[in-house]
Amino acid sequence: MPQSELPPFFSRNDVGDLQIEQVSAGEIVEHFDSPTYVYSRAAIESAFNALTAAFGERAHRICYAVKANSNIGILNVLARLGAGFDIVSYGELARVMAAGGDPGRCVFSGVGKSADEIRGALEAGIGCLNVESEAELQRIADIAAAMQQIAPISLRVNPDVDARTHPYISTGLKDNKFGIAIDEALPLYEWAHAHPALEVTGIDCHIGSQLTDVSPFRDAAERVMNLAHRLAERGITLQHLDLGGGLGIRYTDETPPAAADWIEAIRSVVDADPLARELPIWIEPGRFIAGPAGALLTRVEYLKPGEHKSFAIVDAAMNDLMRPALYGSDMAIVLAGQAPGDRDMDTWEIVGPICETGDFLGHGRALELAQGDLLAVLGAGAYGFSMASNYNTRPRAAEVLVDGHTVHEIRRREPLDSLWALEQLPVAD
Ligand code: LLP
Repeated sequence: MPQSELPPFFSRNDVGDLQIEQVSAGEIVEHFDSPTYVYSRAAIESAFNALTAAFGERAHRICYAVKANSNIGILNVLARLGAGFDIVSYGELARVMAAGGDPGRCVFSGVGKSADEIRGALEAGIGCLNVESEAELQRIADIAAAMQQIAPISLRVNPDVDARTHPYISTGLKDNKFGIAIDEALPLYEWAHAHPALEVTGIDCHIGSQLTDVSPFRDAAERVMNLAHRLAERGITLQHLDLGGGLGIRYTDETPPAAADWIEAIRSVVDADPLARELPIWIEPGRFIAGPAGALLTRVEYLKPGEHKSFAIVDAAMNDLMRPALYGSDMAIVLAGQAPGDRDMDTWEIVGPICETGDFLGHGRALELAQGDLLAVLGAGAYGFSMASNYNTRPRAAEVLVDGHTVHEIRRREPLDSLWALEQLPVAD
């Protein structure tokens, strides 16, 4: 992403400082120190609203994928917009409830749901369990029967569609651990349909993340519709189709489809089919909603120019933002202030203080840097804080939500002693 190109609701003020809505990055760091994650409420709302608009009058539900950014402040903004949620642990469900979200509008995905998690979700009145294996289906049936409840379920089918994204975040291929092979789903649906403690409510599929082309979504929708027909022939009627998340965003030079293109690709398949015309479409977007809304603000601690490589050592590290280290992701990094005209442009390795060579936020970035400069890693609203750790005993960053001129601290920086608060010295003998 060229330096001049900023995500919506990010801009430069008269003196060239980066602004998030009406608040400058400098003001935020003055109050909250660095590194700090900052999110724009308007950006989150506008992404959600773009999806809503693309559905128009069509029945749908947008289940925000909580894993992308699970701060209860963000979940609350989305709950107020009427979002449902895609969760993958009981912990995420508990967060949704703490944020004022409705468990009845949640779908529970994930290949390894424990018995406690299934019980907890049924007690909370989960909207739908997305089942990922025959063994899990059996476990859900047993638990629901013991609780004298009826569990609403969908099978998460694996349509064997290549999402053409990074192998770690591609989920819809035969070789992936996710879902039930679409060709093996029919007998399981028949079994579930006949089971008194299960209610078949839908079909679910999610083929991967950071997709930059709509055709895999279309292919997956076609395969799901094909299964829906085979179910209908056997008298199994559905109440929804869940077509997952995965819409990509622009980090540097990607050209992802717009919200309307994604929804249109799905609708071109589903709306054309008389069986599904009235059926609500559910989707599970995470990155598209939270990603462009957030930036990680970080300060340059030291510059270490070298003959072969020049390093800018910043105060954020792979523990704060893991994507570059884990996937080799390129994320745009911009100066949050205006560089004075007398500086030389150099090419910098943007690295953190962690004792690993893999601790980098960006390679070979052309920037006019000086010690003490404030930088912003853009597109960091999704899979940023939610993947953060305390490696090297680094407290996790603060998180703030900007709403116009107002800044809400939605998570304070972790106090150092909280990092070992659950630890104990061994009892002396
Ligand atoms: N639904 C299910 C079942 C998922 O597994 C995921 C993401 C989503 C929805 C949301 O996908 P999205 O709309 O955000 O693409 N940490 C990686 C991404 C991992 C995605 C895992 N599943 C990254 O930083 O790129």
